[in-house]
Amino acid sequence: MDRGPAHHAAMSTNHEISMTQTVLVLGANGRLGRAAVLAFAAAGWQVRAQVRRAVRAPLPAGVQLLQCDALDLPTLTAAGQGVQVVVNALSPDYTQWATLLPPITAATLALARATGATLMLPGNVYNFGNRLPAVLAEDTPFAATHPKAAQRIALEAALAQAAQADGVRSIVVRAGDFLGDAGTWMDLAMGKGLARGRFTQMGPADLPHAWAWLPDLAQTFVRVAGLVAGPVQAHRARLPAHAVLHFAGHTLTGAQLQQAFEAALGRPLQAASFPWPLLRLGTPFSPMLRALFEMRYLWQRPHQLDGSRLQALLGTLPHTPLDAVVRQCIAGLSAPPGRPVPA
Ligand SMILES: NC(=O)c1ccc[n+]([C@@H]2O[C@H](COP(=O)([O-])OP(=O)(O)OC[C@H]3O[C@@H](n4cnc5c(N)ncnc54)[C@H](OP(=O)(O)O)[C@@H]3O)[C@@H](O)[C@H]2O)c1
Repeated sequence: MDRGPAHHAAMSTNHEISMTQTVLVLGANGRLGRAAVLAFAAAGWQVRAQVRRAVRAPLPAGVQLLQCDALDLPTLTAAGQGVQVVVNALSPDYTQWATLLPPITAATLALARATGATLMLPGNVYNFGNRLPAVLAEDTPFAATHPKAAQRIALEAALAQAAQADGVRSIVVRAGDFLGDAGTWMDLAMGKGLARGRFTQMGPADLPHAWAWLPDLAQTFVRVAGLVAGPVQAHRARLPAHAVLHFAGHTLTGAQLQQAFEAALGRPLQAASFPWPLLRLGTPFSPMLRALFEMRYLWQRPHQLDGSRLQALLGTLPHTPLDAVVRQCIAGLSAPPGRPVPA
């Protein structure tokens, strides 16, 4: 059906406008940062990618690389001109959030203020504390029951406060544990013994746990960003100045994950238990082991993210089927360390 010249004119105008959509990704060498760069670039956005060091894997053609410190505001502000969205994919040393998160938060807010861009942040489930309920919705109360919960609550409160005080727009997309790159629970623990026919369970095998397949989460960032930077400005009205959206991703028990790996590999795997007691022994000597042990509760309490608000906003959400996720995890587990999972 020919929809007529008016339709084609509108399409080309939309196309032209969408060609000017520009995002600045902070922490482009990171897990979510890299996935976001790839997803925004694939969707036709102009992408500016901040890194502190050399890029760990080639970036798509057209991505502008910005090598500077994440706190270098003059450089970032200059690079942020004309940018509609800034993705804060920075994640400082896990043992030093108390000192490193506040300046990063302040810098990203200052950047959003100076450029007028909407700030997007991948939130996590720490905010709900160690007695978190089984289903986590956007209105589930936060509970600062441990330091990292308090630090993430403060981070998001700063975004909410900046929205209220100065109209700095921000969107938190909250997700479960990342899957689909190096340095996740999958490659560090659960899938480490696959070659020896073992699959490591982090806690009771029947306990649901929230996961985010990075390419799906990154595409969701692009879709949400399109609402605030796209030609259809009416969508903007559907999001408050500070919005929180939950990305459901994959809710899986350890047993379901193990079965999916067995199916993909075509052989049974022996379940092993993660050596939490051993890790605990190291906690007096290692701040990292202490920090990891503090998060053990996420493997002892069932939890999932209720993604209905995001679904109502976007319609169908990016959701790679579990068998494809697992196949790509297996490919990634045999890739050189630090390299992204092959797409
Ligand atoms: N990992 C998860 O399972 C998960 C789940 C939900 C939400 N999140 C959240 O998603 C965000 C990104 O997490 P991620 O796992 O993708 O991060 P990541 O890969 O651990 O790190 C992202 C980047 O942060 C940069 N960085 C580290 N320390 C820094 C510092 N002191 N100053 C400036 N930049 C620094 C690094 O840049 P260089 O490479 O340049 O050193 C790194 O590439 C975080 O807010 C995290 O809490 C993570």
